[in-house]
Amino acid sequence: MRSFLDLVEVSSDDIQEILTLSRRGGKVFSEGDSVALVFEKPSLRTRNSCEVAVKRLGGHPVYIQNSEVGIDKRESAEDIARTLATYHRVIAARVFRHDVLDRMVSATDRIGRKLPIINLLSDRSHPCQAIADLLTISDVMSLGNSFSGIKIAYVGDSNNVAFSLAVAALKVGATVSIASPNEYSFDQSSRDYLETLGEVFFTLSPKEALAGASVVYSDTWISMGEENEAEVRRAIFSPNYQVDAELMASANSNAVFMHCLPAHRGEEVTAEVFEANAQTIFAQAGNRLDAFQGVLRYCFA
Ligand code: CP
Ligand code: NVA
Repeated sequence: MRSFLDLVEVSSDDIQEILTLSRRGGKVFSEGDSVALVFEKPSLRTRNSCEVAVKRLGGHPVYIQNSEVGIDKRESAEDIARTLATYHRVIAARVFRHDVLDRMVSATDRIGRKLPIINLLSDRSHPCQAIADLLTISDVMSLGNSFSGIKIAYVGDSNNVAFSLAVAALKVGATVSIASPNEYSFDQSSRDYLETLGEVFFTLSPKEALAGASVVYSDTWISMGEENEAEVRRAIFSPNYQVDAELMASANSNAVFMHCLPAHRGEEVTAEVFEANAQTIFAQAGNRLDAFQGVLRYCFA
């Protein structure tokens, strides 16, 4: 039994195991088992894929909104986790601050109610998304489990999605390039860490990042919780960090565009690029279901 908080803590072999487990059959839960799905922020894909995945694995999902629990406002993260641990086999949570997840793990450990805690997106990382991203890249490019020789270019905000994508991709042997403006690039310690994992390039130039890339990836310029920075961010990212057809032409001729969604046409991607790649993007969204099944199987493997 183990938690799944950040791919930093998951070995390359274990990431490969999760990819394999994502596509394997078999239940995880027994009659009466349930999973708490706690959301401090909104969600379409994560909530739906997690509920369906839990059901398919034989469990009962319980969806909990922040307005009901009020993490660290109505009640501390520690008390919420220790309460939920008395009812459920797993706590999966989408939180603003990553340390809330660490505190949930420590609190449940302290009372001997250790159970898997799963990160459904924090300010630091989005590991379930990155597993779905690797599944999609493998499917689209018929790679199996070998990602070496594949270059993935990320354009835009060096955020939670970018971090998990880079960690996952580097750990399975892909090359990664990241084009972000100075203000929204990874800090030096994150860069140093990513450089220990494999071949990764950081640049201010999206065009440079896309050279030789088979996958081009983007996410919103304004993540949940950053809405008050929207105007400042738009002014910095626009127009250079928008993925349009002209920029896509800098990548390999058969390159695909991927997006974790929700997408903002006219901001990080044009409608033209988005629609030309819609098949891949919605396969990616669909793979969140396989990915969460893989993560649950891994937590109990
Ligand atoms: N990609 C993703 O996590 O989407 P939701 O915010 O809709 O869950
Ligand atoms: N970076 C985005 C991802 C949403 C799935 C956010 O944190 O809001």
